[in-house]
Amino acid sequence: MKIFEPEIVAFCCHYCAYTAADMAGSKRISYPANVKIIRVPCTGKVDAIHIMKAFEKGADGVYVAGCLQGDCHFKNGNTRAKYRVEQVQIILGDLGWEKQRVAMINMSAGMGERFARTALEFTQTIKQLGPSPIKITHTDINQQAIRF
Ligand code: FES
Repeated sequence: MKIFEPEIVAFCCHYCAYTAADMAGSKRISYPANVKIIRVPCTGKVDAIHIMKAFEKGADGVYVAGCLQGDCHFKNGNTRAKYRVEQVQIILGDLGWEKQRVAMINMSAGMGERFARTALEFTQTIKQLGPSPIKITHTDINQQAIRF
């Protein structure tokens, strides 16, 4: 049986989480390769539709990593992102999905260890949850198509 390796998308703010990921790399702190980073100028640019698109394209989990509260370079982008993540959690709940598949994380540019720990912990959470329900549905549909 194949071991489930989740696909995780991390929307990372250029000023903090992306730099923290860089710092983790320069300190040779490893983190799971499951996490695919998408750099954004500010987490305020990440809308609910971007998160839902990531799920539609096959992500098993998505997190948005922005600056610490009060430290957003665009004043309140991370506050907006937090609100949008909460809205997506509600949508996922309505769909019968686990809300833990999406999260908002805050960190500063100097938190390389926190970036790596977050990536590891989130990957473990998604491993426990299993594949995205979309993947399961697609597999079921394909198997049904084969039967016909
Ligand atoms: Fe980092 Fe806005 S600049 S979250």
